[in-house]
Amino acid sequence: MTKKNSQPLRDNFDRNLTDLRISLTDQCNFRCSYCMPKEIFGKDYQFLSKKELLSFEEIKLLSNAFVNLGVEKLRLTGGEPLLRKNIPELIHDLKKFKTLKGENVEVTLTTNGFLLQQFTSSLKKSGLDRVTISLDALDENIFRRMIDRKYSPKIVLSGIDAAINEGLAVKVNMVVKKGVNHNQIIPMADYFRTRNIQLRFIEFMDVGNSNQWDSKHVLPSGEIVKLLNRKFGVAEVGRKTASEVAEVWSYSGGGTFGTISSVSKPFCKNCSRARLSSDGLLYTCLFSSSGYDLKKHIRGKSCSQSDREFIETKRSHVENIIKQIWEGRTDRYSEQRLTDKTNTHERKIEMSYIGG
Ligand code: GTP
Ligand code: 5AD
Ligand code: SF4
Ligand code: SF4
Repeated sequence: MTKKNSQPLRDNFDRNLTDLRISLTDQCNFRCSYCMPKEIFGKDYQFLSKKELLSFEEIKLLSNAFVNLGVEKLRLTGGEPLLRKNIPELIHDLKKFKTLKGENVEVTLTTNGFLLQQFTSSLKKSGLDRVTISLDALDENIFRRMIDRKYSPKIVLSGIDAAINEGLAVKVNMVVKKGVNHNQIIPMADYFRTRNIQLRFIEFMDVGNSNQWDSKHVLPSGEIVKLLNRKFGVAEVGRKTASEVAEVWSYSGGGTFGTISSVSKPFCKNCSRARLSSDGLLYTCLFSSSGYDLKKHIRGKSCSQSDREFIETKRSHVENIIKQIWEGRTDRYSEQRLTDKTNTHERKIEMSYIGG
């Protein structure tokens, strides 16, 4: 049943808010050079303290507010979200929320896959709809160079196998860094094509301030498509919905892959995503310089009202704030970067903090 009197929010460019990405932690067990270079995220780096992180109760309260405002998909990300304890319990509770259309909210997870194998069974039981695993190379040396850890990609591949055997829907993300892992495009495509798993190629983005981004390391998706076309033969499928980040393509022998072209073909026009950091700040763009502190409005003790009433009051208060923020939103960073190459943005937040 559709909820009464509820209309999805629209921002200044008429974009709905349908997608919330929730970062559960700013920590990670990998040190990908394009995200958490170890020179910056070393021993002395100050990660958020436990006290600063949103509790599961707070995440649920905020998620409920977002879903009441039109969000249909909750994506749990990090850092590495599986470093946080009891995630299946959180997913189980998030799955109870109904969208404005009266449907079950979709709950998905983005992980580096290192800890996936041990969690697949409990994740499946929790009601998780889908999982996206990041993997940048099959070759052990290149994989190690990308994540800057001496782990084997086989651990991630076993996690992917376990997720599939458990019946979870799986996609794989590969960030392509020209000159580092571009020779993995064909082996990765072939590996996942033959297993009927959708691999998405992501252009290396200038997100954050620490990844030494340089356009010479970006391999535009158009070139990846040409390469795959020569090898396998491909055809364009397009996007299922306008707000999806990936364009989908099919291989002539069966199976599909995606391209996420944030640099060469930005998709801000239909961007329906908000981001919640693990310490409770709301960001309306991946390239934002600052976020709005929602946590301060929900943390605190009940005084006279019952706990239930108190939670309802806080949720409704926070819904009004989110509404105001989204309705005032004008973000379109990637499109502006394309038209104004000199666009030097203020200090941006890090992707490991805000989630992919
Ligand atoms: P599904 O299609 O539902 O699987 O999810 P998704 O594609 O939204 O999620 P995923 O986390 O796999 O996103 C893929 C990648 O696209 C992210 O890791 C980012 O690198 C990039 N991306 C996602 N959202 C945005 C966005 O709003 N802006 C930009 N510039 N890049 C984004
Ligand atoms: N450019 C492109 N993708 C990135 N990711 C992290 N940092 C970057 C970047 N600078 C991707 C990860 C993962 C997702 C969470 O975001 O590889 O797939
Ligand atoms: Fe960790 Fe993912 Fe960032 Fe790599 S991209 S350092 S796996 S959060
Ligand atoms: Fe959305 Fe900002 Fe990414 Fe554009 S750059 S798609 S507005 S998150």
